[in-house]
Amino acid sequence: MKISFSAPSLPRTGPLAVGVLSGGKLLATAERLDKATDGAIGRAMRASRFNGETGQSLTIMAPSGVGASRIIMLGLGDAQRFDDLAAQALGGRAWKAMAGTGDKAAHFAIDPVNGSHLKTADIAANAAYGALLGSYRFDKYRTREKDDAKPSVRTLTIASRNSDQAKKGFARFEKIADGVFFTRNLVSEPANVIYPATLAHQARRLTKLGVKVQVLDEKQMAKLNMGALLGVAQGSANKPRLVVLRWDGAPRAKNKAPIAFIGKGVTFDTGGISIKPAGGMEDMKWDMGGSGVVIGLMKALAGRKAKVNAVGIVGLVENMPSGTAQRPGDVVKTMSGQTVEVINTDAEGRLVLADAMWYCQDRFNPHTMIDLATLTGAIIVSLGNENAGLFANDDEICDRLTAAGKSVGEPVWRMPLGDAYDKMINSDIADMKNIGGRWGGSITAAQFLQRFVKDGVKWAHLDIAGVTWSNKEVPTVPKGGTGFGVRLLDRLVSENYES
Ligand code: BES
Ligand code: MN
Ligand code: ZN
Repeated sequence: MKISFSAPSLPRTGPLAVGVLSGGKLLATAERLDKATDGAIGRAMRASRFNGETGQSLTIMAPSGVGASRIIMLGLGDAQRFDDLAAQALGGRAWKAMAGTGDKAAHFAIDPVNGSHLKTADIAANAAYGALLGSYRFDKYRTREKDDAKPSVRTLTIASRNSDQAKKGFARFEKIADGVFFTRNLVSEPANVIYPATLAHQARRLTKLGVKVQVLDEKQMAKLNMGALLGVAQGSANKPRLVVLRWDGAPRAKNKAPIAFIGKGVTFDTGGISIKPAGGMEDMKWDMGGSGVVIGLMKALAGRKAKVNAVGIVGLVENMPSGTAQRPGDVVKTMSGQTVEVINTDAEGRLVLADAMWYCQDRFNPHTMIDLATLTGAIIVSLGNENAGLFANDDEICDRLTAAGKSVGEPVWRMPLGDAYDKMINSDIADMKNIGGRWGGSITAAQFLQRFVKDGVKWAHLDIAGVTWSNKEVPTVPKGGTGFGVRLLDRLVSENYES
């Protein structure tokens, strides 16, 4: 779908979306259309329950007196509460209402909203962003879908005042959406298509944007003593990779320590010898979600030329049961030198991250390190599908992540860490074991990771198991891979770490 911007104008054909505030208060274009149609808009509102509340919509088909094939009225809610997230959701709803109309070109008229702090151009840019995010589809494997079941709209024109400014604002959003879509694609691909070698290959494509990409293979990782990551990988015919992405966007003079992002990239998690039940196991194709976010984030940062030095590292493995697989009870030695008794081969993500995090700190000395992982089912028990779990050794990074999450609509919720939890992973025969007890599973997983954080490094861990995949759609996030984390971390960077 292509989005363009124009000065206010009424289209000669196709669907036209317009806004209406709470209480049925028409915005300028709706007002104009009401006159041109001899009051059809007012009549339609009186004949229905539509009154401009957020989420409502009402379509008038083939109105006389105007060129548009239909008028789509969308509720904006209260002007005072109409902010950028509301404008994005509105754009997503507009897309939904016109995508399947049969027309190729659609229009959305954006008018000033009295009482909102948003300028008209900002509303337009955000609505365009929301429409774009909501238009995402992963349909490459659907070869027999009928044309009339697919979206018909190819171009969406956003008409507003100051459309040049709207276009400029959108240009930045579009780069972020590129990152989100890249992540959604990677997460949606099945595990016979995306496995460590092919995921590394996808990451390599960022070279075009000026990202430096380096791929380590099994041999190189063995040389670095990454025994934990390699232990997970040893049962699979698909060999592991470690991908290092670097975006050096900070001005030369300020060349300073980077911020680092680490992603769990288990391209399929059967559980290994501690095998998972069959029901729902197909979901474990998206156990590489953390790595997908890191790659999509690097794409967004490079795409919009963020003034930051950022490192992205993803540990890519497939967790399989086989004659060469690691066994419960095996002891592995991590790159840090610490040993781990592998009680449960299904607690594999933390093993992969332990070596990826250590490598990152050893090589890049980041001031801040944030890891993302679909790490535990337990975080879904705690927080459901609405918040990612946040664990950290630093209050400031928590506040920053919480604020960023709120402003982009990807909320995170802080969970506790502490010595009593840490004790739960002590082992009798090694430095630690890879699972705690029955309770507090997402916390003991985070405690495990914290044992691989060096002194002085600010660290946060996002357990995204509940938010990486969605079975219900919202206006800007269709069902499937959500890309949760890309917008959040892009905002974290732009608000706090760009020079
Ligand atoms: N990838 C899973 C966690 C997961 C579960 C993600 C459901 C998304 C949905 C992880 O590797 C895992 O298997 N964790 C175990 C840990 C347990 C063995 C301590 C879990 O959560 O059951
Ligand atoms: Mn697992
Ligand atoms: Zn896993």
